[in-house]
Amino acid sequence: MTSPSTPLVLAESLSIRLGGTEVIRDVDLAVRPGADVAVTGRSGSGKTTLLLALAGLIPVTGGRITWPGLLQGSQPPRGRIGLVFQAPSLVPELSAQENVTLPLRLSGVDLLAARAAATSALALLGVLDCAEALPAQLSGGQQQRIAVARALAGGHQLVLADEPTGALDRGHAHEVVRALIDGVRAAGGALLLATHDPELADMLDERVVVDEGLLVQGAPR
Ligand SMILES: Nc1ncnc2c1ncn2[C@@H]1O[C@H](COP(=O)(O)OP(=O)(O)OP(=O)(O)O)[C@@H](O)[C@H]1O
Ligand SMILES: [Mg+2]
Repeated sequence: MTSPSTPLVLAESLSIRLGGTEVIRDVDLAVRPGADVAVTGRSGSGKTTLLLALAGLIPVTGGRITWPGLLQGSQPPRGRIGLVFQAPSLVPELSAQENVTLPLRLSGVDLLAARAAATSALALLGVLDCAEALPAQLSGGQQQRIAVARALAGGHQLVLADEPTGALDRGHAHEVVRALIDGVRAAGGALLLATHDPELADMLDERVVVDEGLLVQGAPR
C-alpha cells in the first residue's frame, strides 16, 4: 500500500564502497512526496555517489535502498526517476528535442505526446529555440538546461539533479532550480538537488549535508 507519506525512496544504513574506500557510510534517508531537499557538502564528500545509488545505478555494499512509493518495491525503478547527471549526458547525434523525447519514447509514450511534453519542458527551461540544434552546437549552459528539461519532461515523481546549474550564470541557475521545484510540485513528487551554492540550496525547503560519506540531516542554514 502506498500513501502520500510513503517514501519515494528510502535508504537504510546505506553504505557504498568504491575502489576499496567506503564513500557512503551508514546513511538513513527517506524522501517523501512533496519534499524538496538540497544535498550539499564539500567536493568529494559523496553527493554524486549518493544520488546515483538512490537512482539504483550503482550497487549497494551495505544496508539497502528501496522505492516503496514508486511501486516497484526493492527493484530499481528503471525509467521512473528523472535524472540530471553531473557530467554532460546528452546524446551527441540527437537534436535537443530528440534528446528530451527519447526517454519518453523508450517508456512507451506515443510520438505526438512525447514531442508535446518535450516542447513544453524545453520552453519551461527557456531553450525552445535550441530544439533543432545538436548538443555540440550549443553552449554548456544550454546543454545543461536541455538535460534538466529531459528530466522534467517525464513528469516523474522523483527527480534527482546533480549540480544541474554548474555551467549557468546566477540568473539562469535560479530559473533552473525554480523550474525543478515547480516541476516536481506539479507532479506531486520530490526533488533531491546536489549543489555547492548556498543561495540555491536556500531555495529548497530542506537541506542535508554530506560529510565524508556521512549524512548530516537538517544542518543549520
Ligand atoms: N569509481 C570510483 N572508484 C573509487 N573512488 C571513487 C569512484 N567514484 C568516486 N569515488 C570517490 O568517492 C568520493 C565521493 O565522490 P563523489 O563524486 O560522490 O563526490 P561529490 O560530493 O559528488 O563531489 P563533487 O562536489 O566534486 O561533485 C570521492 O573521494 C571520489 O574520489
Ligand atoms: Mg558530484
